[in-house]
Amino acid sequence: MCGIVGYVGQNEAAPILLDGLARLEYRGYDSAGMAVYHDGEIEIVKAKGRLRVLRELTNNGLDLKGTIGIGHTRWATHGEPSVTNSHPHFNKDKSIVVVHNGIIENHQPLRDRLIRKGYRFISDTDTEVVAHMLDNYYNGDPLEAISKVMTRIEGSYALGVLFKDHPGEMYAVRKDSPLIVGVSDEGNFIASDIPAILNHTRNVYFIDNMEIVKLTREAVAFYNIDKEEIEKTMTVIDWDMEAAEKGGYEHFMLKEIYEQPKAVRDTINPRIKDGEIVIDEWHMTEEEVQNLNKIFIVACGSAYHAGISGKYVIEGIARIPVEVDVASEFRYRDPIIDDNSLVIVISQSGETADSLAALREAQRKGVKVLGIVNVVGSSIAREADSVLYTWAGLEIAVATTKAYSTQLAALYLLAIYLGNKRGKLEYAQYKQMVEELQELPDKIQSLLGDKERIQWFASKFAASRDIFYVGRGVDYATCMEGSLKLKEISYIHSEAYAAGELKHGTISLVEDGILVASVLTQPQLYEKTVSNMVEVKARGAYVMALTNIGNYDVEDVANFTIYIPKTNPWFTTSLAIIPLQLFAYYVSLARGLDVDKPRNLAKSVTVE
Ligand code: G6P
Repeated sequence: MCGIVGYVGQNEAAPILLDGLARLEYRGYDSAGMAVYHDGEIEIVKAKGRLRVLRELTNNGLDLKGTIGIGHTRWATHGEPSVTNSHPHFNKDKSIVVVHNGIIENHQPLRDRLIRKGYRFISDTDTEVVAHMLDNYYNGDPLEAISKVMTRIEGSYALGVLFKDHPGEMYAVRKDSPLIVGVSDEGNFIASDIPAILNHTRNVYFIDNMEIVKLTREAVAFYNIDKEEIEKTMTVIDWDMEAAEKGGYEHFMLKEIYEQPKAVRDTINPRIKDGEIVIDEWHMTEEEVQNLNKIFIVACGSAYHAGISGKYVIEGIARIPVEVDVASEFRYRDPIIDDNSLVIVISQSGETADSLAALREAQRKGVKVLGIVNVVGSSIAREADSVLYTWAGLEIAVATTKAYSTQLAALYLLAIYLGNKRGKLEYAQYKQMVEELQELPDKIQSLLGDKERIQWFASKFAASRDIFYVGRGVDYATCMEGSLKLKEISYIHSEAYAAGELKHGTISLVEDGILVASVLTQPQLYEKTVSNMVEVKARGAYVMALTNIGNYDVEDVANFTIYIPKTNPWFTTSLAIIPLQLFAYYVSLARGLDVDKPRNLAKSVTVE
């Protein structure tokens, strides 16, 4: 989704903006632009396509003079990707310029009203409304105009604004779209995410909803919507640029795949003390745990797939019914939730608009929300009643790998914890599960050693038109994520099917030579899935099997087999997903695609 960077300080702004925008590229975008104030004028440069074009147009920013400016990468929502629709947007005489992340939902009535007042629109964007509204309310006081606009626009927004007759000042606001402020001796910054400014400072303020910031070279001041100054606490970021760099790997995705053993270990180990699971962050009383009668897991994308694995595992181990919903459905379906329910919202970024709205919907119904979140201080982390952080660290590749793996780990921790507390596990069983959990990182590590074979296999199928994934139970959940990984970055059509459902239509899609990846890690379902493999093979499919070490008779049917180390059957998604991630990665690589920044996708989806 769109990225914002702003700078005011003693250095030239444009090169800093370009560098910051480059570090937000992972969020996904299709055009970019900058506005820099110099000599009483605001100069605006915009370009369609990659940042490279903006760099070329401005001679790496050197031709755009000035020490205060705002930059933007746009992921098109209203209006096609084009120079005109890219940001910054401006009022009639370019004396007010705006960059925006989010969606102004009531832009149409506002636009109509502004047109009636004589304003002329040149773009198809919702953002241009903000520029003209600021113009309409501006009487020399930026705070006044901004707060008036904030009370009239609906939807989500992070805005950066410059006013020509307030040189040296930059303004920013947010509601439901991420925005941070960075401060340093060399100047002050706004950005959509920390990596954009980490080269310059670690001192950061998180802006809350409906807050306004005024930045000058020397100071930042925060205001509420009533223009009253407010105090905020600075946070010092404790991770560094190394995390935001490839460190010798060809792509962030491969680096992050390789970081999974550490990420999973960092998520599990702090929650195990003397062989027992301790979840200090979860504010549930003993009574609430005992009375829990239903869990809702709500998320989007891969986090939703982690939730589906979680459903099998929590129901299996703790015997509590679990419903899993995509957040965009949950938020509008008026779910039936009672006081003894728990809602778990899973999100890597902690900023996904639908997940955040689902969280609020649950709280509105009076239910407690547990967030399983990766980004510290993100909106979901701040608004949830309790947060279980997944310590995956910074994840840059759009296609998630390590964050997903840590989400699984967090769900396993919860399942075993609840199973024990509610007396559904024998003590010996509980202890053994805890041990097996702690062994997962080493087992993930061992799977990474098989990458050359998977690369070879991926190259054979890189030209496929369709690839199917089939499995049962937990394996079906694994298939959903494996299939998503593949389609996200290879653009090959792919679906995941519950293997037992194949015969009800799907099998008609099977043609000669089509790859069907079968996941069979569940002992009680193994024979059933083998039968399904036989059925698709008989219709010409090339069958890949992903199963537990020891199940060697699978090779009687499979054309290619990958074995995963033995573990408790509930935890096999954590292992089986690794070869599927590598497979997707190498298919994308073989097709010469932009692995880390797949077309049309965004890392953090901050609009509905
Ligand atoms: C986007 C990303 C996915 C991610 C999903 C949910 O679609 O491309 O990788 O799974 O959003 O994001 P979240 O940050 O809430 O986990």
